[in-house]
Amino acid sequence: MKIVEAKNYEDLSKKAAALISAQVILKPNAVIGLATGSTPIGTYEQLVELYKKGYVDFSNARTVNLDEYCGLSPENDQSYRYFMNEKLLNHINIKMENTFLPDGMAKDFDKECKRYDELIDNLGGMDIQLLGIGHNGHIAFNEPSNTFPAYTNISKLGESTIEANARFFDSPSDVPTAALTVGMKAIMQAKKVLLLANGMDKKHIIEKSLYGEITPNVPASILQLHPDLTVITCFK
Ligand code: GLP
Repeated sequence: MKIVEAKNYEDLSKKAAALISAQVILKPNAVIGLATGSTPIGTYEQLVELYKKGYVDFSNARTVNLDEYCGLSPENDQSYRYFMNEKLLNHINIKMENTFLPDGMAKDFDKECKRYDELIDNLGGMDIQLLGIGHNGHIAFNEPSNTFPAYTNISKLGESTIEANARFFDSPSDVPTAALTVGMKAIMQAKKVLLLANGMDKKHIIEKSLYGEITPNVPASILQLHPDLTVITCFK
């Protein structure tokens, strides 16, 4: 495990973008696992900058997102598809058909979960997986539970997650209560994992996840077992 302490949020974002760009430079058709939430927004801004300056070419890259809210369409400005298009995908030269998220509007969610795992397998898994972390240690939308879910699953969002994500919605009652999320297999099989944590409020859960007991009660603790984990932190 490598831990990099960033000077500030901008520094964290620049470092994360540099590592993702390096991956795409080394393997132009890299499969990049992407995350949502507020933490990676700066990373996406930096990636757009690097693209505009001509340092990185995404024309052959593929992206696979971790999760999507159940019941939100791509046109809904709270959906993760909308977020990804706005923050990154519309501003780089990636082919939209090479960008993937679970379908929050699927008629049969169980089928959709299977389809998403097959899609990831067919792409050969992620070359690099970007992750944020929830205050309760959730990664993607895998909430604390008694087992580590292996496969893409329908996650019932916990109260603290709904509360934390309510800031993006008009009212807490608008936050969807379920999401489709990749499981631990897709995350742990990524060749590299890049975990970002920004803000004093993430310090405790990062310490618990990286140095505490490996337990599904703290989903991110499974990352201790990943052979190539980089964590960039800024606890300010
Ligand atoms: C959501 C996402 C996670 C993300 C988390 C933390 O729950 N599904 O992938 O890590 O939010 O978000 P933030 O970076 O805004 O703290």
